[in-house]
Amino acid sequence: MLKTLAVHIRGYVKASVATPLFMILEVIMEMLIPLLISSMIDNGINHTVMQNGVEIPSPDMGHILLMGGLMLLCALAALLGGAMGGVFGAKASAGFARNLRAAMFKNIQTFSFANIDRFSTAGLVTRMTTDVTNVQNAYQMILRICFRAPISLVVAMTITLLINAQLASIYLVAVAFLGVVLFFLIRKTHKYFTLVFEKYDELNASVQENVSSIRVVKAFVREHHEISKFERATLNLYTLFLKAEKMMVSVSPLMMITIYASIIAISWFGAMMIVGGSLTTGELTSMLAYCMNILMNLMMIAFIFIMITMSLASGRRIAQVLDEKATIANPEHPDTDVPDGSIDFEDVVFSYSETSEKPVLNHIDLHIRSGETIGIIGGTGSSKTSLVNLVARLYDVNSGCVKVGGKDVRSYDLEVLRDKVAVVLQKNVLFSGTILDNLRWGNENATEEECIAACKLACANDFISEFPDGYHTKIEQGGTNVSGGQKQRICIARALLKKPLILILDDSTSAVDTATDAKIRRAFAEEIPDTTKLIISQRVSSVENADRIVVMDSGEINAVGTHDELMQSCEIYSETYIAQTVGNGDFDKKGEM
Ligand SMILES: Nc1ncnc2c1ncn2[C@@H]1O[C@H](COP(=O)(O)OP(=O)(O)O)[C@@H](O)[C@H]1O
Ligand SMILES: [Mg+2]
Repeated sequence: MLKTLAVHIRGYVKASVATPLFMILEVIMEMLIPLLISSMIDNGINHTVMQNGVEIPSPDMGHILLMGGLMLLCALAALLGGAMGGVFGAKASAGFARNLRAAMFKNIQTFSFANIDRFSTAGLVTRMTTDVTNVQNAYQMILRICFRAPISLVVAMTITLLINAQLASIYLVAVAFLGVVLFFLIRKTHKYFTLVFEKYDELNASVQENVSSIRVVKAFVREHHEISKFERATLNLYTLFLKAEKMMVSVSPLMMITIYASIIAISWFGAMMIVGGSLTTGELTSMLAYCMNILMNLMMIAFIFIMITMSLASGRRIAQVLDEKATIANPEHPDTDVPDGSIDFEDVVFSYSETSEKPVLNHIDLHIRSGETIGIIGGTGSSKTSLVNLVARLYDVNSGCVKVGGKDVRSYDLEVLRDKVAVVLQKNVLFSGTILDNLRWGNENATEEECIAACKLACANDFISEFPDGYHTKIEQGGTNVSGGQKQRICIARALLKKPLILILDDSTSAVDTATDAKIRRAFAEEIPDTTKLIISQRVSSVENADRIVVMDSGEINAVGTHDELMQSCEIYSETYIAQTVGNGDFDKKGEM
């Protein structure tokens, strides 16, 4: 995991190295100051001269000024080190985060449908935002404190041991005591922080689901339910954070008591030593300064441990996204020539996850000639969508094979295949931009005339022309400012612009009235007769004129044939037909086709 993340420091290695170096400069300069104070007191202020065999005080102004000057220089250097360390640390960590996000985003773009099924969308969002921010903060802390604190600790301890080992042993006890307390604290808080991230996912899922389907929420007046769901998620987070923080806060008074106890002990024993002549006033002063320093650094180290454990969870989640291999990738020597629009399913077995018992598609054999129009009908969940998704290789089969133009779909270059096989997905979306922009997703270089021609085929030209801005009408994110049927027709036109060999409409005219639906199909038959058309529909009227109709039933092909054949032989089909034409009175059907 660390290796996966570490490569993304590239471009910011210099800043990453400079940060600790500057921080070390700061430490060394800070460490010198107590020594200078000690010398100032002992050799400057308490300077004595021998006069007539008697020692009399005679402060050495020259030495005092010299030490004062040096202290000022040290302080300035420390300031510079600290400031530069801060700047470089920020640069390194922000750059690291940027690289991580870019790499994740890039990898997500290669994800197949199966990869996306594995991570939830909410999970991906948390990983790209909160988790990266955590790692960024931790990285900055590590660069700034990870070197600084231990070095400072060791240097201060060495100096104090050199000054007076006996006195130094006092806070060694304090350090040992605090070390044990912090160890247990970290273990406890780590547990809570790991839980926190799982709750973040829940929170994001709640927000994402609600915001993206706010219209449905409103239509079903589920706001209260949604609010309470959201409140539960935030309350969970609140409780966990509170627990973790309480733990951290409780340690602060303990630290302070230990620090002050050490200071008192050092002062007490130090004073006795001064009287005894084994310690100077200057040395005691610097001892006290170092003592504070040491305990503070210990606290920093504890804090950084907590940061690291917190960010480890995040780092792991980021690495999972970075390490995820696209389940569908180009073959080594991709074929870029799709000869024709024939489709062959040969003993195809397919399921969405390896663990599921019953496959979603069970031993499917189906052969479709180039240019044929195939209707696919069947109840919801009968695997119609799953069947056609295999043609554009949105998923890969478990066994058997799907061929397009006589060649296995897995042998083609993905881009070429998906250009030749245009799928209008059941759940389709438009993107923010003008209608023209959206149409040109199908073909970037399409001229306005070509776009209009495609829209005429899809029966979209009429309503688009009626918009005040025509083809330059802005579509809002998700296409919320056009009706369902209008959206479907724009999506069909978008697919037509690819000039595909195979056109798959997955229930793509469900929101279009039957008259227009019939008109679209008639246009297809006249204008693009050579394109193989797979038309999935719930309406018998949409498929009855197809060359052949496939009836799907729980993952298997129940029957294949023309309308007349199926009326004779297929019970599911004839019953559906009767129910829809007689039972539901689909009366505008007759006059149309
Ligand atoms: N992304 C998916 N992950 C797991 N199972 C899925 C997924 N999509 C569909 N399924 C399952 O596969 C079966 C067939 O679904 P689908 O092909 O969408 O049927 P249809 O289009 O005929 O309504 C259903 O049982 C459905 O629950
Ligand atoms: Mg479907």
